[in-house]
Amino acid sequence: MLRSTTQSLPECGDVPRHIAVIMDGNGRWATKRFLPRTAGHVRGVQAVRRAVEACGKRGVEYLTLFAFSSENWRRPQEEVTLLMRLFIQTLEKEVRKLSDQGVRLRVVGDLSPFEPKLQELIHLAEQRTAHNTALNLTIAANYGGRWDILQAMQRLLLARPDLANTPQAIDESLLSQYLSMAYAPEPDLFIRTGGEQRISNFLIWQLAYTELYFTDGFWPDFGATELDAAFDWYRSRERRFGRTSAQLAQQI
Ligand code: IPE
Ligand code: IPE
Ligand code: MG
Repeated sequence: MLRSTTQSLPECGDVPRHIAVIMDGNGRWATKRFLPRTAGHVRGVQAVRRAVEACGKRGVEYLTLFAFSSENWRRPQEEVTLLMRLFIQTLEKEVRKLSDQGVRLRVVGDLSPFEPKLQELIHLAEQRTAHNTALNLTIAANYGGRWDILQAMQRLLLARPDLANTPQAIDESLLSQYLSMAYAPEPDLFIRTGGEQRISNFLIWQLAYTELYFTDGFWPDFGATELDAAFDWYRSRERRFGRTSAQLAQQI
């Protein structure tokens, strides 16, 4: 079972094992260039490619990208439609290449409102890359951190109806086994591009002790250089997990 940062102390290396990214600023990138917002999303896909490659080269084990939040349905219909089409096109075009790079792809979120074709492509992509071990790439689509905690509780109670009578037996490690990313360690580093300093209902449970890095650059401009800047910042952090600096110094 995977360790929880609140239950035990994780090992922390120079390279984050798991990076979670809010890829923000596509719309503003395009608007600045007098282009439709959708042009920013198209360019955003290229940045995804760069990020996957750069993370693979640097030995990152898990990369999780927020592609569409449970609140993004509130956007104009044309933008939502374009995002769905782009998702389909990207899966059709990129899965083979990802697989050649040893990437295992998973999609987390409530996939039920997606059109059947998209659901099928996601299923096929997951199946096709299931044996890969170089990099675990997770796309969060129609994902919300609150949805995740709720669905975990619902699935837990379905599997273990007896717990309704002994709720005190529900602990962190039990509930977290039902979270949609139960296969991954908690993120070490969170990156949000686009200048906003908020979580926007991303992995709210799993970010409990993640180092949070915010950068003003827009997602379509993100690449290896920007990733290395985030890594440099990450290496400068002292991850205390509740302890004091003096305690950390004594361990060396
Ligand atoms: C992030 O960029 C991509 C998605 C939410 C799909 P935005 O579209 O939020 O870009 P800004 O924040 O409006 O610039
Ligand atoms: C968060 O970005 C979601 C994704 C990047 C997919 P938003 O642009 O939707 O977040 P808010 O609305 O500014 O908080
Ligand atoms: Mg945004």
